[in-house]
Amino acid sequence: MVFSPKGGVGTTTVAVNIATLAAQVHPGRALLVDLDLQFGQVATHLNLAASHSLIDLARDEESVRDPDLLAPFLAEHQSGLRVLQAPGSPELAQLVTGRNVERLISGLSSVFEVVVVDSGSTLDERSLAALELADRIVIPITPELGSLKALSTMLDYLNEIGSLMSKATFVLNNLFAKDLLKASDIEGALGTRIAMELPYDPLVYLKAVNEGVPVLTGSPKSAPADKLGKLATTALGNDSTPQPSTAVERRRGFARLLHRA
Ligand SMILES: Nc1ncnc2c1ncn2[C@@H]1O[C@H](COP(=O)(O)OP(=O)(O)OP(=O)(O)O)[C@@H](O)[C@H]1O
Ligand SMILES: [Mg+2]
Repeated sequence: MVFSPKGGVGTTTVAVNIATLAAQVHPGRALLVDLDLQFGQVATHLNLAASHSLIDLARDEESVRDPDLLAPFLAEHQSGLRVLQAPGSPELAQLVTGRNVERLISGLSSVFEVVVVDSGSTLDERSLAALELADRIVIPITPELGSLKALSTMLDYLNEIGSLMSKATFVLNNLFAKDLLKASDIEGALGTRIAMELPYDPLVYLKAVNEGVPVLTGSPKSAPADKLGKLATTALGNDSTPQPSTAVERRRGFARLLHRA
């Protein structure tokens, strides 16, 4: 699953591209779940028309485990990727409980070879249930203090309730044209290794969202596609490099990152 404690950092871009590769590797057996319950944009990134949403399925325990009953709830992308869409209105999000998500994801995992989850950026009982069940957690971060502080707070919090670090892969998404923070400094401040960097590109990612065609298929020869492909391979467990994140010595204080007092 892909999660970030801060929005707008590339979570959906990463999830959609991992799922795109999953659909190529496991035709008809890959599912992308939009668990960004209030304003999920997976359908936009894939140019899918609105269909049944997670709300319809989350409370239907029987259908969740049965491929035939399940099929009508899912949208089918032209790549063969199946998609369970986010609810169409933010007020519906509150109808889904952590227990619903737990049953939903474990049921879907028994039907599909790969289930990729875009968990958005809200840490609550629903995303925690998904974090708990995930085999791997990809966490995009941007080289910006707000994103790093949010991640640091989340890591402290999660360490209190049980460590998820062993299955986390941190990805530095260079969302900005200029980098003021170095990857090694970020690693020191967070106390964890960054597994991969996604390059900045002024056009490729934006075009992907606006046209609803994932970077991997829409701009396959681009540098972002190269990195996203490698990340997806790692996330799907088909490659041993780069390794999931390992701890590095944590240096307290983010201010030093920006040479602030
Ligand atoms: N490395 C990058 N360089 C340039 N633009 C990028 C990069 N990564 C993502 N973007 C763009 O940033 C925007 C946000 O990306 P995306 O929707 O994947 O993020 P998100 O974390 O899912 O956001 P939200 O919190 O709104 O769900 C998109 O317009 C995307 O095209
Ligand atoms: Mg998103």
